[in-house]
Amino acid sequence: MSQLNKFKRYTITSALPYANGPLHIGHLAGAYLPADIFVRYLRLMKKDVVYICGSDEHGAAITIKAKKEGTTPQAIIDKYHNQIKNSFEEFGIAFDIYHRTSSAIHHDLSQEFFLNLYEKGEFIEKYSEQYYDEDFDQFLADRYITGTCPVCSYDKAYGDQCENCGTSLNPTDLIDPISTISNKKPVLKPTKHWYLPLDKYQPWLEKWIDEKEGEWKVNVFGQCRSWLKSGLQPRSMTRDLDWGIDVPLEEAKGKKLYVWMDAPIGYISATKQWAIDKGKDWQQYWKKQANTEDDACLMHFIGKDNIVFHCIIFPAILKAHGDYILPQNVPANEFLNLEGDKLSTSRNHAVWLHEYLEEFPGKQDELRYVLTSILPETSDSEFTWKDYQARVNNELVAILGNYVNRVMILMHKYYEGKVESDGAIIELTDAKVNDELGGYYDELGKNLETYRFRAALQSVMDMARLGNRYLTEQEPWKTIKSDPAAAKIALHNSLILIGHLATCLQPFLPATATKIFGMLNVDAVTFDQEMEFANGHQLNPAALLFEKVEDEVIDIQIQKLADKKAASAVVQQPIVAPAKANITFDEFVGLDIRTGTILTAEKVAKTKKLLKLTIDTGIDQRTVVSGIAEHYEPEAIIGKQVSILVNLEPREIKGIMSQGMILMAENAEGKLSFVAPADEMPNGSVIR
Ligand code: MF3
Ligand code: ZN
Repeated sequence: MSQLNKFKRYTITSALPYANGPLHIGHLAGAYLPADIFVRYLRLMKKDVVYICGSDEHGAAITIKAKKEGTTPQAIIDKYHNQIKNSFEEFGIAFDIYHRTSSAIHHDLSQEFFLNLYEKGEFIEKYSEQYYDEDFDQFLADRYITGTCPVCSYDKAYGDQCENCGTSLNPTDLIDPISTISNKKPVLKPTKHWYLPLDKYQPWLEKWIDEKEGEWKVNVFGQCRSWLKSGLQPRSMTRDLDWGIDVPLEEAKGKKLYVWMDAPIGYISATKQWAIDKGKDWQQYWKKQANTEDDACLMHFIGKDNIVFHCIIFPAILKAHGDYILPQNVPANEFLNLEGDKLSTSRNHAVWLHEYLEEFPGKQDELRYVLTSILPETSDSEFTWKDYQARVNNELVAILGNYVNRVMILMHKYYEGKVESDGAIIELTDAKVNDELGGYYDELGKNLETYRFRAALQSVMDMARLGNRYLTEQEPWKTIKSDPAAAKIALHNSLILIGHLATCLQPFLPATATKIFGMLNVDAVTFDQEMEFANGHQLNPAALLFEKVEDEVIDIQIQKLADKKAASAVVQQPIVAPAKANITFDEFVGLDIRTGTILTAEKVAKTKKLLKLTIDTGIDQRTVVSGIAEHYEPEAIIGKQVSILVNLEPREIKGIMSQGMILMAENAEGKLSFVAPADEMPNGSVIR
C-alpha cells in the first residue's frame, strides 16, 4: 500500500447503473469487478473502507425505457433495481450498500446541494434555445435527440454524448439532429436554466488534474487533458423533464435536476443511508477533516464513457460546494466487446448476467475469473465463449483446481486428512518456496495498487503454478515409501501454500476461496495473519473446485448469440410516426384520390431525388414530380398502377409544374412503397 497507505479511510464507488435494463458482462468488467477486487483487497489489509453503489433512477434512460415497454418510469425502476441488485449479489460484488436515487434521502441531499450552490451564486442563469418536439409538445432531453457527431461523424450520437468516440456533447453540437420520439427535426425554443460555469473552474481543474499525471491511468488522464484543451463550457444543471428531482426553486416549477448532477450525489446519499443503518459518521467518508491527513481516500470505478462526469463535472460540483473531498483516483476501464462485435443492449448482443446465472448455476467464479483475465484496463478487450472455455479448462481446472485437489486427496489417502507432526505448529518450511511465494505477494500488492487487476490475478495463479511445480518435484506419492518423513513435509508445505492461495484468491474468486478454506477447515485469513496449522488439525473431505466446460455447452452459447443477432435484425421495432390531429369527414371527402398509371418516367436534371412522371389519371394525362428517384429506376416503374391525389394545388418544382401527388407508404428507415389497388382497376377509379 505504498501510495495508498497514508489513508485512514476509503470511500470506494462503482458507477450507479441505470435501472433501465439487466446487467451484462460489460457492466461487470467495466466498473464492478475491478472495484470489488480492490475493495476486498483493502478489507484484507484491514482498512476502513465503505463500498458504495446503487441504482441511477432518473434521466431519459429511464423514461425512454418506460415508453418502449408501455409502462411508467416507476414500474421500470422497481423492476430493474431488484433484478440488478440480485445479479450483483449473486456475483459477490460486495457493496456495503446498494441504494437508490429515487429514495427520499437522495432527493433531499440533491436539492440541498443545488441550493447550496445557488445561494453561493455559483450558477449562471440564462435563457437558451433548446430543442423542442412540436409533434409531441415537449422539450427534448439530450438523450431524445440523435444526430451526427461533430468530432467523429458517427451518425447515431446522442445529444449528451457520442458513444463512438466518447465526446461529451450538447444537443446543439449535433449535425442533422432528429427527435427520437417523432423522428423529425426538432425546433429550437427558449427556456431558462441554471448553469454550472465549468469555464470558470477550468484553471483550477487544470491544476488539479495536472497533479494526477503519472498517478491516474493514462487513458483517464489523457481524456481529461483533451477536454480541458478544447475548453470547458457552462453546463446546465437543470432540465425540462417530468421525471427526476424537482429543482428546489419557485421559479423553476416543473423543471428537474440534470441527472448527472443528482446521480453522483447518489454516492453521498447512499453513504448517508449506510451510516444511519450501521451507526457510522458519513461525513468522515466524504467531508474534509480538520486535519487533512484524516481525509478519506475517495475513488470512483467507472467505464470510460463516464470519465468526464467523474473527473470534471462532479469534482467541480464538490469544489463549488467546498466541504467535500475530491477523488484521489478514477481508474476507468475501456469497453468489453463480445464475439467480434460491440456489446449492445438494443441489438440484444450481450451475455446477460441473469441468464448466465440460470444457465451456469454456481459458476459465478468462473465468469469472474475469465472477465478479470480480460479486463479492458488499457484498451478495449474481447470476450468469446471459446476463450471462456479455454481459460476455465486450462487454467482453473488444470492449474488451480488440480493442484488443490491433488494435495487434498493425498492428505486423505495417507493421513486420513490429519495434519500431524512433532512440533506444535505446522508452518512453511521450504525456504525456496517461501521466497518465491513472497515475490508473488509483492507483485500482487503492486499490481492491485496500480489497478492492474489482470496482472494481479496472474500473480495469484503463479502461486498455484508454484504449488504444482513443487508437488511434481517432491513426488510425495513416491517418497511416501522411500522417505515418509519427506512426503509428509512436502504435503504439509503444500497445504500451507493452498492456504496462501485461498487467502490471495479472496478478492478475485471469493466463493472458491471460501470453498478452499472450508476444505482446509480454517477460517478465512487476512493478509496480516500467519498461515499455519495446529498439530493434529483435521481437514475436511476434498471437493472438486471446477468442472471442465464441454464443447456442447459453448456451442449452445455461440448459437444463442447468433440467433439473437438474426432475430434482432428482424424485430428492430421501427418507430411509428406520431398520430396526427383528427380531421372532419368533409375534409376527408375533399381529397380527390384516384387510381392512375405511370406512362413515362425520367430523372429531373441536377437533382438526386426527383423523378418527372406522366400519369394517366383517367381524367387526363398529367405531369407529377415525385421524390422517389433514390428508390426506383425510372424504367422499372413505367406501367405501374398508383394512387394519385389529383386535386392538390399544382406547384412548380425545379421549373416543372407538378399536378398532384403520388401516394407512397414510408417506413421509419425511409423505405418507400407504392400504394395501389390490390386488383387492377381502371384509371380514374375513386379511392375513398
Ligand atoms: N448511470 C450512469 C451510466 O450508466 C452512471 C452514473 S454514475 C454516477 O452511465 F456517478 F452518476 F452515479
Ligand atoms: Zn463521436
